[in-house]
Amino acid sequence: MAGSTGFSLNIAVLISLISLSSSIDFQGSLIHSNSPRSPLYNPKATPSDRIKAAVADSLSRHSYLEFSKSPGRASPDWVQAPMRPHGSFYVMSYYIGTPATETFGIADTASDLIWLQCLRCDDCFDQKLPIFDPSKSSSYRRVKCGEPECDALNNFRCKHDYDICTYRIGYMDESSSEGELSSETMIFSDSRSGGNYTLLNMAFGCGHRNFERDLVGDNAPGMIGLNNKSLSFLSQLHLNEFSYCLVPLDEVSLSSPIHFGLSASIVGLMTPILDVGGQEDFYYLGLEGISVKNEKLPIPADTFTVKENGIGGFIIDSGAMYTMLNSTAHAMLIKEVANKTSLPRVDDATELFDLCYNCSIQELDLIADITFHFTGVGVDLILSKMNTWTDNGDGLYCLAILPTDGFSIMGTYQQQNINVGYDVMKRVVSFKPMDCTKPLA
Ligand SMILES: *[C@@H]1O[C@H](CO)[C@@H](O)[C@H](O)[C@H]1NC(C)=O
Ligand SMILES: *[C@@H]1O[C@H](CO)[C@@H](O)[C@H](O)[C@H]1NC(C)=O
Ligand SMILES: *[C@@H]1O[C@H](CO)[C@@H](O)[C@H](O)[C@H]1NC(C)=O
Ligand SMILES: *[C@@H]1O[C@H](CO)[C@@H](O)[C@H](O)[C@H]1NC(C)=O
Ligand SMILES: *[C@@H]1O[C@H](CO)[C@@H](O)[C@H](O)[C@H]1NC(C)=O
Repeated sequence: MAGSTGFSLNIAVLISLISLSSSIDFQGSLIHSNSPRSPLYNPKATPSDRIKAAVADSLSRHSYLEFSKSPGRASPDWVQAPMRPHGSFYVMSYYIGTPATETFGIADTASDLIWLQCLRCDDCFDQKLPIFDPSKSSSYRRVKCGEPECDALNNFRCKHDYDICTYRIGYMDESSSEGELSSETMIFSDSRSGGNYTLLNMAFGCGHRNFERDLVGDNAPGMIGLNNKSLSFLSQLHLNEFSYCLVPLDEVSLSSPIHFGLSASIVGLMTPILDVGGQEDFYYLGLEGISVKNEKLPIPADTFTVKENGIGGFIIDSGAMYTMLNSTAHAMLIKEVANKTSLPRVDDATELFDLCYNCSIQELDLIADITFHFTGVGVDLILSKMNTWTDNGDGLYCLAILPTDGFSIMGTYQQQNINVGYDVMKRVVSFKPMDCTKPLA
């Protein structure tokens, strides 16, 4: 018996080692914050509460992104990440430490660091799960100053004779996390096999001073950064690819698959991830035009390009819900959809949206199609009606795309039922409309 235990232990260690090479391949689950399966589910929120929260969230997330890019506006140099999403976002569960304790983080393609609240708390916001206690974990280790992980931080300070490397990540809504850059064992479950992926020595921020601005019910203990910078989940695992397929928001009881590594599905329409002068925080894409019912809007060519001062551009984001478009283009879009649609336009009493119809879900098919034209030959993404129109909570269907004076964002509402793939080495994002509730063939 003792022999066989030893044998399986060795296998487990081996799997851990293999998983650190670039052959890692697992399927995780993204759970929407409005899902009853989400640890953050608030059963008291009404549908209209959720829509209001999602609009507020998209707008404030955007205002950060805008702020961070604006020259002349003094943002503290540690404000470097998008705001912490509040109303509508996706979380991923994992285990941390030895023995393993369960936690989860917001999956964010627009930031890098993995962090979570840690004891001892100088300041922590409320969370339902017990706060991670590094003193109870035998695999916990502080990263020291001078180690490459510490050097990779945008903003670090060294304390106590270089024994402690502190990080500070600030969000535009004044949320922040500050603590010690650390290293731990993390376990992610593969939702196909039910098996565990054990990842050793993952760098993360152990947050002892954490502030969250708009505390609404429950809060995510932390974040999981999925951009391409060196401390992100992807980069630490040397992954070139990931893909996700977001199930429709009305299928709230289902989780959405996210694939890392070889099983990532980079299929369908392919458009380059733009290189905008070393700006690796976000995945910038080239949105070259928009059509309504096969007619291209007369949008000036540079509307969605990043300007010399860093303002503007178009990014794809997992942390914002509604797509936000340059207000000039947005106004043209509204006008043209209204023009090409025979249904009468109705004012939105909630004042959240600009174009609404009082129609049945079937009648949405009468509304003109919207197509996004991305860089590449024939990279024309027709938005489904489900991805374009949202119930405003007041019986109307409204265009789920908001205007902005800053840079434009493709949000998760417009990514429902599309397999979205990211290949960071080949520098492409792919789109393939499909039924995300059906497992990938
Ligand atoms: C995965 O790891 C967690 C935490 O150690 C454990 O509770 C769970 O049983 C493991 N699952 C499998 C299939 O080994
Ligand atoms: C929005 O589009 C207009 C018209 O193309 C352009 O002049 C303006 O610079 C764009 N705004 C931003 C922030 O990119
Ligand atoms: C749509 O636009 C065309 C051309 O500008 C105009 O002639 C027509 O009256 C408009 N139709 C509606 C329903 O607004
Ligand atoms: C939508 O139409 C229905 C029936 O035609 C009507 O009862 C309802 O008041 C309308 N709602 C709005 C917000 O206009
Ligand atoms: C991601 O990082 C790698 C390694 O630094 C780099 O070669 C690649 O171009 C980056 N890709 C993107 C999309 O930033």
